[in-house]
Amino acid sequence: MKIELNLNGRPRSFEIEPNEYLLETLRKHHMTSVKNGCDASTCGACTVLLDGKPTLSCTVLSIRANGHEVTTVEGITDEVDLISNHFGDEGADQCGFCNAGLALTVYALKKEYKNPTEEDIKNYIVGNLCRCSGYQAQLKAIKTYLEDQK
Ligand code: FES
Ligand code: FES
Repeated sequence: MKIELNLNGRPRSFEIEPNEYLLETLRKHHMTSVKNGCDASTCGACTVLLDGKPTLSCTVLSIRANGHEVTTVEGITDEVDLISNHFGDEGADQCGFCNAGLALTVYALKKEYKNPTEEDIKNYIVGNLCRCSGYQAQLKAIKTYLEDQK
């Protein structure tokens, strides 16, 4: 079956299987920033934005993206560079496996909240696990990124 979607600002159409998940479809079409960490909705490495909302692509059927807007980090590279610089400055960028998913979540947070509290930030990123950083450096990097964007 065929789906049509807007991927990173461009209209695209993909042939998919009825039981295919969005993670697989995106990776098949070279969106390799989208990672498979657990394949079970628990790690956040596969996060993409579906109509602007952070969404776990490993457990969303590709058909659900039909007629919708999907964003991966390939579509917001300038913003991701800014976020990554803050992560680097705070030592939050280690193996990097979680970074793309987290960057998309942080980008969505910035769009949704004007002045998020530390609690808001923690709640928003709770689904993006990181096995390396211990989270404090990430939190600091996110705060400085959000401050700089004001
Ligand atoms: S790969 Fe989707 S949540 Fe882990
Ligand atoms: S930096 Fe390694 S999983 Fe987050």
